Amino acid sequence: MTHEDDGKGVMTMFDEQVQDELIGRGFSRRQFGSIAALLGTGAVINATVARVGLAQSQAARGVAGAVRLGANECWTGPFPAGVQAGAAVIAQGNRYDPDDQRGQLIRTVAGVEGVPEERVQTWPGSGDPLVRSVVSFCSPQNGLVTMDPTFEAAWRAAAWLEAPVAKVPQVPGRGADVRAMLAAAPDAGLYYVCSPNNPTGTVTPVADIEWLAANKPAESVLLVDEAYLHFSEAPSAIGLAATRGDVVVMRTFSKLFGMAGMRLGLTFAAPELHARMYRYDGQQVTATLPMPAVACGNASYTMAAEIAARRAQMTATRERTIATLQGRGVVVHPGSEANMIMIDWQTRPAAEMQRALLEQHKVQIGRSWPIWPTVSRVTIGSPEEMDAFCAAVDQVIA
Ligand SMILES: Cc1ncc(COP(=O)(O)O)c(C=O)c1O
Repeated sequence: MTHEDDGKGVMTMFDEQVQDELIGRGFSRRQFGSIAALLGTGAVINATVARVGLAQSQAARGVAGAVRLGANECWTGPFPAGVQAGAAVIAQGNRYDPDDQRGQLIRTVAGVEGVPEERVQTWPGSGDPLVRSVVSFCSPQNGLVTMDPTFEAAWRAAAWLEAPVAKVPQVPGRGADVRAMLAAAPDAGLYYVCSPNNPTGTVTPVADIEWLAANKPAESVLLVDEAYLHFSEAPSAIGLAATRGDVVVMRTFSKLFGMAGMRLGLTFAAPELHARMYRYDGQQVTATLPMPAVACGNASYTMAAEIAARRAQMTATRERTIATLQGRGVVVHPGSEANMIMIDWQTRPAAEMQRALLEQHKVQIGRSWPIWPTVSRVTIGSPEEMDAFCAAVDQVIA
């Protein structure tokens, strides 16, 4: 399906609500294809997928005044030097890209990661390139393979495209079983490994990721989502994206860098692979970014000491929270190396615990995944927030 279609193919990508809204504003159906091209295909699908996601998970939406442990955000904002750099660029907001901010960010990132500049691409967050990877590399014949549980955006995009989806169950405490992933669909279009994984926080060893890259079909793509990598000390798979033509590594500024609301992300891949990802909209989405976010990200990316300090603070809070919970007999899955833990309530459905904590104590925790219905994902917040969470748990389970 492309934008060169007669418009019918593109039209079906809009759900009914969007179609009605456009018709209501006076567009004709014949114009839908052009509108989709302007928005960017990824943006259209993201909007649809996000609606499905939000309906399933109240935790993604902020509840005013609540302790916010539901969306895997950072408990604090960007580094002060990043805030300063972002603020400075606001005064030049009349320019689309005041002093080649985007070029500066790419050079900075390439330098820090040791990746050629032409293999670095920018995005407004990483949700877009994730969904776009499914659009770009999956088809009704060659589907998607993931671990289960994992970040669901890719599942939803594949389902939306009616591409086959294979979900390989995870062993609690472990990373992806890459051999089982390949066996589940030896002809997939896209293999998606999230490491550290959302929601388990578990890491897949780079050696396993290398094995999958070496053994998957040559024409398929391996996407390694490293949204949470800065929270762990695990090595990155970025070397694969720096050298191969069939691996995409993805990062975001939404997590450790505390920039979720500012929208900035990165992918690392061969130029030809990137070109396939933006074939639907040129570089409209990759090249048009909010400049305060770009300047903030650029200033933050090199701050190794601050990154390490934030990681250490989160790790200490996580381990203290786990110890407190375990002291009260609460079961926590082992192995998280990121800013989240999986709590198994055992006798109570996770959705019920989520509701009780919010309604009775204004503590907003994360969702559960169908594979583990009594297990909730809880984001690690500040020490004070985690104290409030543990106190609320005490009362709800009493
Ligand atoms: C694993 C993973 N990938 C991608 C994203 C997308 O986030 P963003 O678009 O803010 O970068 C998230 C958000 O929670 C995530 O957990």
